[in-house]
Parts: sequence; structure tokens; C-alpha cells
Amino acid sequence: MINIGIIGLGAIGQRLISQFEKHSEVKVVTVCDQLESLAKESAGALGGIPFYTDHKSLIDHPLVELVYVAVPPKFHYHIVMDILKANKHVLCEKPLANSLEEAKEMAQAAKEAGVIHAMNFPLNYGQAAAKFAELLKQQYVGKLRRLQLTMNFPEWPRVWQKNDWVGGREQGGFVLEVGVHFIQQTLKLFGEVKNIQTHLELPDNPEKCETGIIATAELADGTPILIEGLSQIAGNEYIGFTAYGSEGILSLENWNQLRGGKFGEELKGILFENITPKNLINELVKAVNGQDAELYDFEVGYKAQQVLEQLRKM
Ligand SMILES: NC(=O)c1ccc[n+]([C@@H]2O[C@H](COP(=O)([O-])OP(=O)(O)OC[C@H]3O[C@@H](n4cnc5c(N)ncnc54)[C@H](O)[C@@H]3O)[C@@H](O)[C@H]2O)c1
Repeated sequence: MINIGIIGLGAIGQRLISQFEKHSEVKVVTVCDQLESLAKESAGALGGIPFYTDHKSLIDHPLVELVYVAVPPKFHYHIVMDILKANKHVLCEKPLANSLEEAKEMAQAAKEAGVIHAMNFPLNYGQAAAKFAELLKQQYVGKLRRLQLTMNFPEWPRVWQKNDWVGGREQGGFVLEVGVHFIQQTLKLFGEVKNIQTHLELPDNPEKCETGIIATAELADGTPILIEGLSQIAGNEYIGFTAYGSEGILSLENWNQLRGGKFGEELKGILFENITPKNLINELVKAVNGQDAELYDFEVGYKAQQVLEQLRKM
């Protein structure tokens, strides 16, 4: 049994609480949020466990072995550094940090602390993304000609994520919040990303995040990457991560759908029920117990941050 403490009890913190609750080998033993009412309510829902408003008290709780950090990006650095100083295992939300410098320091400190350090990049544990990777490996699209990420948001912030930071320029925006998942997938599946050129559409209000991006980059062999997105537009939300190849097209759409087709065919939905990807919590348990595990660590987070910060350059 692994005893977990959680810092940050907002949208994603609650989502992970319900996943931890369903798992027999982990137990949430204490929670923390700077909003006392939320900390109290969440602790009550978990059977009246201790709660805090100050992250250091949670870290120091003697039962806590692993801390899950689900606060907004600009608070990741200080909290994670305190966890590492206490030599406790850590699961951190993406993006790793709110700047490249912070991310570098965190990745270094995590390595030196000798603890388990993992990122929550859920695509790595999703069926559609696993099938996407498998088909690419089987040369479904043939030789890759172009990789494209399209992000369309009729409304940003999205209806379910109306908080005070995700629409702000300092630590929000869809490039940071959504784009980073696909940056990490690109690095994992295709390797290095170079020659990044970015053009952001920014509102006049300097406090508000981008409303558009057109960026280009290249894989190591020169294969072009196009990253484009717009918010505050007509239509439906659409996130498409598409590999165009010499023989076909394969698209990971809206996180959990796949569509593809060979040259000359219509694009059609691709099924993936037979795929059983790994599960983040199982992998965390394995890692804490000293077994091999499929985790995406702070080095992965740092590499994604390197690309992310170039895309976010004003
Ligand atoms: N992995 C994913 O798929 C995914 C999805 C959504 C969000 N996220 C990431 O998760 C993090 C949180 O996002 P969210 O949507 O849940 O945000 P949120 O604003 O809904 O929740 C954040 C919570 O953290 C609390 N908080 C802020 N600073 C704190 C501090 N110093 N100490 C204690 N509590 C503090 C806030 O009061 C709030 O309750 C962000 O980094 C975001 O990028 C990841």
C-alpha cells in the first residue's frame, strides 16, 4: 500500500482522487488546498482524513510517501522542490514548470534526490494513443511526410476549466495546457524537434493568453511539423494530431478517437478495443516498489518544456 498526499484539489486533483480511490494498492491519506473550504470538503469525502492549506505541512505528514502535485503551473516549482528536499516520491501535473529554468532545476534535483519522479501525461496510458503509436510503428502511413497538430477551441478557457489562470498569459493558454501533451507524444514517437518558428495571435490585453498559433518545426531528418490552433471561433472543439505519410494518413482526434486511411481510401474510424495500455497508478506502485515501470519522468517533462517555451515565445 502506498500512502499518497495530494496538493491541489481542483479539476484534475479531483479526477485523480477518484482514480486513486478505485485502486487497491494506494491510499490517499491527506489532502491540501490553499482554499480551506475545498480542502475540508475533499478530506471529508475521503472519510475525514487530515487536511491542510499549507503544502509544507502535507509534505511533512509522516504517513505520506508520495505527493501528487495538481496546482496551477506557476506553483509546481516551489512545491516540487520542497517535496524533493523531503526526499519523498512525487507525481507532478504537466507542464513540469512555468519556465525552462525551473524545469531544468526540478529535473536535476529529482535525479539527485533518488526518488520516483513522474509526470501525469495521460495520453501515454490511453488506448487510442497506444493504437496510434502501434500503427505508426507498423508503417501504416508509410514514410512520414508531415506531422500536424490542430487545436480548435470555440471557447478558451473551456466550460469545465473556468479558473483564474488557464486563460491568462502568465501560466495559461491552450498551447501550454493542451499543446504540451502532443509535444511530449511527438518527442516520444518521433524524437528530437528542431528549428521551431512560432507566431502567436495575442489579444491586446497583456494579461490574456494567446488566441491563435501557427508554428513550424522539424524532426531530426527534416520532416516538417505544423502546429496550428485558434480559440474563440465557430464550430466544435477539435484536437487533431495527424501523421501524413507516403501511404496514408493517421489521426489521433479529440484525445480518444482514431481515424485513418490509406492513399486512395476515405478516412474512417479505427477501433482499438483490443489494446490494453499500462495504467499510471499501477506503474507508480511498481516504481515505488522498486520494479521496472513505464513512467514519464521529470527529464521527459523538461524536454517537453524546452519545446513548449519556444512555442510560447512572444
Ligand atoms: N494531465 C492532464 O490531463 C491535466 C488536465 C487538466 C489540468 N492539468 C494540470 O493540472 C494542474 C491543475 O489544473 P486544474 O485544472 O486542476 O486547476 P484548478 O485551478 O482547477 O485547481 C488548482 C487547485 O490548486 C489550488 N492551489 C493553487 N495554489 C496552491 C498552493 N500553493 N497550495 C495549495 N493549493 C493550491 C487551488 O486553490 C485550486 O483548487 C495544472 O498544472 C494543469 O496544467 C493536467
